[in-house]
Amino acid sequence: MQKHISPSALARDHRFNRQTSEERFSDPRHSMEVGNVDPGAEDVADRARRRMHGIFVGEIQALEGAGRTAFDFDTNDVPYELKLDMARQCWDEARHCEISIKLAEHMGGELGEYVETTTLFEAACHKDPVFRLAGVNRALEGLAIDVFTQMRDFGDEMGDPILSYCEDYMLADEVTHVRMGSKWLRSVTEGDPERRKAALEFQKVVDGLFNFRGQRGEEVDSPIRLAREFRKMAGFTDDEVDDIAETSLKQRTELEAERLAVATAPQ
Ligand SMILES: [Fe+2]
Ligand SMILES: [Fe+2]
Repeated sequence: MQKHISPSALARDHRFNRQTSEERFSDPRHSMEVGNVDPGAEDVADRARRRMHGIFVGEIQALEGAGRTAFDFDTNDVPYELKLDMARQCWDEARHCEISIKLAEHMGGELGEYVETTTLFEAACHKDPVFRLAGVNRALEGLAIDVFTQMRDFGDEMGDPILSYCEDYMLADEVTHVRMGSKWLRSVTEGDPERRKAALEFQKVVDGLFNFRGQRGEEVDSPIRLAREFRKMAGFTDDEVDDIAETSLKQRTELEAERLAVATAPQ
C-alpha cells in the first residue's frame, strides 16, 4: 500500500462535492461561510445544518488523516505509542462520523448537501508527522473544541437534548485528540527547538485561516467562541489562546477597514 498519498486522493462517492483549500480561501464569500448560529436568526436551521455538515466532513477527514499518520511513519520516525494514539483516534472519529450522519438526519439535512473542503486532510498529508500534529490535532481539532462547545450550548438553548448530548460526547473525545497533539508535539521535538518552532508556526497559519477573517473570539456573540477552559485541558497555554484571540481581532479590524473603504469609495 502506498505511503504518503496526495491530498487529492481521497475516496468519495457521487454524493460529495469537493473543494480544495485554495479554492475555498480564494473565494471572497468564505468569510461569510461559517455563519453565526444565533438561535434568534430566521435562517438558524439552515445555518446549523451547514455547520453540522462541515463537522461531518471534518470527521471523515480526521479519520483518514489519523489513519495515514499511523500508517505512513515507522518507529524510526515516531514512537510506537504515537501510532497507537493515532489508531485510537481513528476509532473515535469513526464513531463521530456515525453520530454526525444521524445528527444530520435528525436536523433535516443530508449528506453532500454542502461542499466539502479538504483542508484538514491536506494538513494531514504533511511529510513531517509533527506538522500533522500541529496543523490537525492542535489547530483544526482545537477549532472542533470551540465549535462543539458552542453547538452543545446551542442545543441546550434550542431545547434539543439529542444535539446537545452528541456534541458533549464528541467534545470529550476532541479534548483527548488535541491533548495527544500537544503531548506528542512536545515529546517528539524535545531537543529540536527549530523543528518545534516551525511546527508551531504552521499551526498559526492554519489557526489564522480558521479565524475566518476575525470571526473567532471570546465575546459572547462571536460567531465562533474560543473555549478557553477546554483548550487548556487539552494542553494549550493561556498565551496560545490569547494569541489566537488577538490575531482574530486584528483580522476583524482589517476586514472592517476594507469594507469601510469599499462603502465610502467614490462611485
Ligand atoms: Fe471527531
Ligand atoms: Fe478528533
